This record gives sequence, structure tokens and C-alpha cells, in this order.
Amino acid sequence: MAGIYIHIPFCKQLCFYCDFYKSNSLKEKPQFIEALKHEIELQKNYLEGEKIETIYFGGGTPSVLNGKEINSLFQKLSEIHKITDNPEITLEVNPDDIAKDYVCEIKTTPVNRLSIGIQSFFDEDLLLLNRRHNKRQAINAVKLSQSAGFSNISIDLIYGIPGMSVENWKKNLEQAFEFNVQHISAYFLTIEPGTVMAQLIEKGEITPLEEEENVEQYSVLLEQMVQNHFIPYEISNFCKEGYFSKHNTNYWKQEKYLGLGPSAHSYNGHSRQWNIAGNDKYIQSLMADSLVFEREILDPKRRYNDYILTSLRTMWGVDLKYLEEEFSKEARDYCVSLAKRLLEYGMIDIKNESLILTKQGKFIADNIISELLMAD
Ligand SMILES: C[S@@+](CC[C@H](N)C(=O)[O-])C[C@H]1O[C@@H](n2cnc3c(N)ncnc32)[C@H](O)[C@@H]1O
Ligand code: SF4
Repeated sequence: MAGIYIHIPFCKQLCFYCDFYKSNSLKEKPQFIEALKHEIELQKNYLEGEKIETIYFGGGTPSVLNGKEINSLFQKLSEIHKITDNPEITLEVNPDDIAKDYVCEIKTTPVNRLSIGIQSFFDEDLLLLNRRHNKRQAINAVKLSQSAGFSNISIDLIYGIPGMSVENWKKNLEQAFEFNVQHISAYFLTIEPGTVMAQLIEKGEITPLEEEENVEQYSVLLEQMVQNHFIPYEISNFCKEGYFSKHNTNYWKQEKYLGLGPSAHSYNGHSRQWNIAGNDKYIQSLMADSLVFEREILDPKRRYNDYILTSLRTMWGVDLKYLEEEFSKEARDYCVSLAKRLLEYGMIDIKNESLILTKQGKFIADNIISELLMAD
């Protein structure tokens, strides 16, 4: 089973922290959709006929697409690919795009999962992040999506926002639980180089939280999720039983995926490739019948490192049997020998021949992961 990711590279306003590829000029949307359909044709053999289990409209802001545009893209995909009978089809939506008419329109498309970019229910955080929506729109977005009949809803929240207190972070989580949504992604705010947020911090206009405050917010997150019966299935992802994001889980389980649109990444088990990040160049090259991308062939060391990087962040962990079957006995032994010290320190556990982060380990997940990688 494989997945398809479609990158919608437009945003009506640019958030200060975000370094995903997007443009705030929507003028080219019609040409972009035509180019995308052409890319679907050009890339028709990439997945070698594998059935499509998940389709994910990400961004940027996929909710700049109307129902007709989503239907036409889905139609094109189903002409080219075999899609399972019950695919998971996710649309990322921004709260300021959610009105009653819009969600009802989306409900008539094959989209069956919404991922709403709330980030925070506090206006002060939303202003600091330069989000386009406010608290009232955030609340309405969830309510309207539920009233329209969506029963698989995820919301994105961010913690570690400068100025955010632990109290407010708890309130954000409580508000999320009150809605009874099926899935929550809670990300630690990363300060990406070159973003407005990074510049504001550099100039001293914004002060990041202290390390202890970030740690406390993550600790609250883990506690609250368990208390509210959410499964912590990945460092930043939590769901009610049966509501794992199939699309993201497939990335973490090394399934193949095709990424369409500017900057989108694809993976076929042997190589990764990524499209050019530029709307003009993307559209022009497709009009000239070609696709501009770069490709990296993955040698065994790179594939091993990619597997450790993604799997250790999940509750399924690093499967030692898989390491032996997919790589070699040496790769398994190498990993086990590096893991010994981490096991002694209680940072990881070993269960059913899998290495799994303990609660303590989750706080320093990136360090633990780097301990298990193969050096260059
Ligand atoms: C790329 S956005 C696309 C979704 C949609 N455009 C939105 O903003 O609501 C996907 C999610 O990534 C998260 N994100 C993006 N940049 C981030 C950063 N620097 N730190 C933490 N989370 C980030 C946000 O929670 C966001 O909802
Ligand atoms: S966080 Fe979402 S809305 Fe904001 S700039 Fe990034 S992609 Fe656009």
C-alpha cells in the first residue's frame, strides 16, 4: 500500500515561524492545478502500480481549494491510480477558511479527515505567530467541521511559544479535549533559521521560553494525553483508539509515497526525490512537459539511519528483527551494542524485540536517536 502527498503551496498570510514552501500570491492557483494534474500523469509509474491507501492534501494551505478543485484532483488521481475502497483522505485546513458553506462543500468531496491548524486557542499566541485567525475562529472551525459530519478530525497545537505559560498550555489542551476530537498533533515550536520569528529573537524583540518551561510543557502534554485516553503513538502525535494517521504512520513504517507539487518529497524504497520549491518554475517546467526535481539514491547506511530516525519516535520503536532482515545481522548487532548504555540509563526499553523510548527518553529523543545512528 502506498500514499500520495499533494503540496498546496499558497498561504493568505505568512506565519512568522513557518519554513514550509509557500507563496502568498494566489494568482497562479488555476495554472498550478493544471500543472499538478500534468504531474500526476508524468509520475504515473512512480509507485509501480501499488494501491493507494492514503491521500494527504498538505501545505501551505489546502483549504484555498474549493470542492470542485478537490474533486477534479481526486478524479485525476483515480483515473491514474488504483485506490483502495476505503482510503484515508486528509485535508489540512486553516480555521479562517472554515465557514459553514465551505465545510459542507468539502463534505461532498471524498475528503474524510480534516487536520485543523489551530496552534493555540489564545489570541496573544496567535498574534505572536502571525496567524490569520483568532480564538473565536479556532473554536468555530472545530464546531462547524463536527456539525458538517466530519468524524475524523485532528487538530494541530504548538507549545513552547514565547510568552506561553504552562497554565495556558494546559487550557489549550483542555479545550482540545472538550471538543472530543479523534487526533491531536502537538508540536514544539522550532525556531527555523531565516524565519521572521528567528529574526525577532535575534534582535531581542521576542524572548524564547527557558528550557525548563519547555520541558514542563512537554511533561504536561504527555500526562494530559494519557489521562484523556489518547494514545501517544509518536513524539508529537496522539489519537483515540483506531484513529492513527494512516498516512503519517506509513511514512514512519517506510511505505512508499509519491509527493506531488512544489517542494514535495517522494520515496520508493531505494531513493528519495524532491520537486523544485518554486511555483513559477514548477508550473513552467510542467507546461514544457518536464518535472524539475533532485534525487538521492539511498545507500544501506542512509536507509538504516532514516529507519532509526523515524521509527524510534513512534510507540512501535526500532524493530530489531526488521533491522536484521532488511539490513544485516551486523546492523542489528551494531544497534544493540549502541543501545546498551541507553537501556542502562532507562532512556529506552526493549519489548518484543523492539527498542522503544521510555517517558524519560522522550524528553531528549533527538539526542537518543543520534546515539543510534551510523556515523559518516
Ligand atoms: C505546514 S503547516 C500546514 C497547515 C496549515 N497551513 C496551518 O498552518 O494551519 C502544518 C503544521 O506544522 C506545524 N508547524 C509548522 N511550522 C512549525 C514550527 N516551526 N514549529 C512547530 N510546528 C510547526 C503547525 O502546527 C502547522 O499546523
Ligand atoms: S503554518 Fe500553515 S498557514 Fe502558516 S505559513 Fe505555514 S503553511 Fe502557511
